Amino acid sequence: MSASTTIALYPGSFDPLTNGHLDIIERASHIFDHLIVGIGASQAKSTLFSLEERLGLLSSATKHLKHMEVAIIPGLLVDFAEQKGAQVILRGLRSETDFSYEFPMAMMNRRIGHNIETLFMATSDEYAYISSTLVKEVARLGKSVEAFVPQQVAQALQEKFK
Ligand code: COA
Repeated sequence: MSASTTIALYPGSFDPLTNGHLDIIERASHIFDHLIVGIGASQAKSTLFSLEERLGLLSSATKHLKHMEVAIIPGLLVDFAEQKGAQVILRGLRSETDFSYEFPMAMMNRRIGHNIETLFMATSDEYAYISSTLVKEVARLGKSVEAFVPQQVAQALQEKFK
């Protein structure tokens, strides 16, 4: 990649990927020269899907997009960003609540990272209420979640809860 290439890292737990995440990924893939979608491997959250399952679902749901890759973030986000040459951490914002959660993380990452900038992208309004937790809850209780997640994810959720 040339020196002027802008590489963005979009991190998350993606447990599982929702249409809200996919919306951010698709829009960002048209803005940055290269987009890395990074799955955090930290144990802070207990997850329904394993890292490998999440990697598989993300790869399959984004295979139509160019200039992007899916990867696992093994440790600190800023270390991974530096290793990948990313200048930007991208996060989606759905509400003020997201902002309060994101702001300290962005400041911490700037403090411990090397000139890494966090940029926020506003969600498309139709996805503002979607979260991975709500999707899992609806699927667990037997309702279809096809309106909220890519088809591969809906299928994987159905498998998990059958
Ligand atoms: N559409 C739909 N849902 C969205 C969304 C969007 N645009 N943006 C965020 N969300 C939801 C997610 O589904 C998730 O929902 P849930 O809580 O119900 O699961 C929630 O918002 C936020 O989760 P996520 O975006 O996955 O972030 P996270 O808080 O789990 O953090 C990492 C994930 C990878 C960014 C974080 O764990 C990390 O940085 N790990 C590396 C270790 C590290 O560097 N730590 C220090 C950080 S300062």
